[in-house]
Formats: sequence, C-alpha cells, structure tokens
Amino acid sequence: MNFDRGGATDISSGDSQTLASLYQLVSEDIAALREFLHGEFASTEPFVNELLEHLSRFQGKQVRPACLFLSGRCFGEIGNDHIKCAAVVELIHTATLVHDDLLDAAQIRRRVETIHSRYGDRAAILLGDIIYARGFVISTEVENAARLLANCTMEICIGEMMQVGNAGNLQLLEEQYFEIIHRKTAILYGLSCRLGAMLAGATEDQAAAMEQFGNQLGVAFQIIDDSLDVFGDQETVGKSLGTDLANGKMTLPLIRLRDGLDVEQRESLLKLLEGHREMDRTEFHHEVVRWLDEFEILDEVRERAQQVVANALKSLHVAAPRCEARDQFEQLARFVIERER
Ligand code: IPE
Ligand code: IPE
Ligand code: MG
Ligand code: MG
Repeated sequence: MNFDRGGATDISSGDSQTLASLYQLVSEDIAALREFLHGEFASTEPFVNELLEHLSRFQGKQVRPACLFLSGRCFGEIGNDHIKCAAVVELIHTATLVHDDLLDAAQIRRRVETIHSRYGDRAAILLGDIIYARGFVISTEVENAARLLANCTMEICIGEMMQVGNAGNLQLLEEQYFEIIHRKTAILYGLSCRLGAMLAGATEDQAAAMEQFGNQLGVAFQIIDDSLDVFGDQETVGKSLGTDLANGKMTLPLIRLRDGLDVEQRESLLKLLEGHREMDRTEFHHEVVRWLDEFEILDEVRERAQQVVANALKSLHVAAPRCEARDQFEQLARFVIERER
C-alpha cells in the first residue's frame, strides 16, 4: 500500500468530489482559509519547518471550518474573523491529531506517515504544542474567541485523557463512551457552529442552538469514525485503521455487541478481547469483525448515527432560518453518516 502520494491535494479531485460540491457555497471561504493556513505552516526554524511541511503535504477534509462558515452564512456575512477562527479550529484539530496518532500508535494520517513515526515521539509532542500555541495567538485577535477556543481545547484533551484512562476497560459503559466522544470530538464541532453564528451577528439563543446542532453532528461524526476504524477501507480513509481494537478502546460497535450478548457469549467475547495481545493483529481484527457481522452491529451503529443526525437536524431547524446555507448543512449532515473517509 502506498499512501505517500506527496503534494498538496485539492478537495475537488478524486474521491473528494462530494466534498467539493458540499462546500460549493463556502468555496471562497475555504480558499481564504487555505491561504491563511499556508502562512501558518511555515517557520524560520528549519527543523520545525520540515515537520510543518510534512504535515501540510495532505490536508484533511476541513469539515469543522466548513461548519463554521455555513453557520455564519445562516445568519449573515463571512468576515476576516470567521477566517481566523476557522484557522484556529483547524490548527487545534491538527494538533490533536499529531498527539492522538502518538497516543494511538498510528502510522498513517492523511495518506502520509504520521509525525511520530517519521520524526519520533518527542518531535511529535513539541510540534503539537507549537500548533496549539499558534492557534491561541491567532485566537486573541478575535474578540470573545480566545477563552472559548482554549476551553474547548482543554475539554478535547480531557476527553483524550479519559480514553487513555479507560484503555483496556472492557466494561466501559455506553454512557461513558458518549461522554468521551462528546468531549474529544463533538464540542469542537459545536464551537465551530457557535463561532460562525456569533461572528455573523446571531443572537446568543441562536448561537447556543447552533452549538447544540454542532455537538450532535460531532457525536455522529465520531460514531461513524469508530465504525470506519473496524469496517473501513484503509486506502479510502487514508489513515491507519484498526487502532481502536489494537489499543483496547471500547467504541460503540464493541459496546453494542457486548451488551446484546447472553452471559456465555459475552464471556467468550471478553476472553477474545482480553487475549488479543497474544494473537496476530490481523487475525484478531478478523475475529472481531466476524462477531460484529454475526450480530449485524454495523447496521445498528449506523442507525444510531442516523438517529443522532436526525436530532441534530431538528436542532438546526430550530436554530436557523431556512436558507441555502442551512440546506447545505443538511447535505453535510448526510455526508457525515454516509462517508467512507
Ligand atoms: C479525525 O477527524 C479525528 C476525529 C475526530 C475522528 P477528520 O476525519 O475530520 O480528520 P481530517 O481533518 O479530515 O484528516
Ligand atoms: C480522536 O479520535 C479524536 C481526537 C480528538 C483527536 P480517534 O482516535 O478515533 O481519531 P482517528 O481515528 O485517529 O482519526
Ligand atoms: Mg486516533
Ligand atoms: Mg478513529
């Protein structure tokens, strides 16, 4: 498998057609964001620069900035403060990924080698810190944004910490899982939607309702990410998969499976999960997939994500007046559950 395709990738190419059409309404905003980020991904220190360059070889889907812009367009115009906040959101997201890949021992991210695999753990820790700090400096240029963005980052780290603390906890409850994904993923979506609305002149009630919508969208996004980790195609997704199973993370597919079994079956599943370190990684993965297939867990998890998105759309309808941006949000919500990457 050769992920290292090199070169920056335009979202309008290849398998990203869907995103390009989803982002049509905000294409100018996304272009301005990329221009802005381009300047941020450079340093006068050569080693830092090399790492930043490596990181920018393949950009992500930029869903959170798209949410911020769409949310802004539901209530008014997009201005410079939107671009700055979208950049901070994407920088925070990128920094969490650099650290997360180290935590998860993941080898591939956005089709290229992860920072820690290529440059070592210490460089990955520091690069993540540099990116966070850059984000925070920019955030101070936007009124009322810095505190929200810093708090959100703290919550993400707490979510990741809860996950670290629960590694190998096969008894993790479904409600604990939802608490973790709310913190590590959903609230950055929520904040993106809040900031977009707030900076476009929405009322506090409207901004809060958009945040609620974003939170729900983020939960659905992580549920699908967790099912892609088990069932996805690594070439399509462009990042290391199977890391949740390998790291003893109980995500929704395994939790639903475990909680639907009778006592005997559950014991046998837990025995498999407990003994995974003695097994070949691929064989273990296949064995877990056999269990999940037998009990049709993928369908169940997808349905759950669909329910969450349906609720999210209800919140969206309360929050924002009908407009083109709101219609695009509905498409984006569909993408979140149907996506294969
Ligand atoms: C990956 O997020 C991390 C999760 C919260 C699941 P994305 O899937 O948005 O990553 P990129 O930015 O597109 O690479
Ligand atoms: C991490 O979740 C989400 C973050 C806040 C970084 P995952 O560990 O599932 O994300 P991926 O699958 O590595 O992108
Ligand atoms: Mg990970
Ligand atoms: Mg994942």
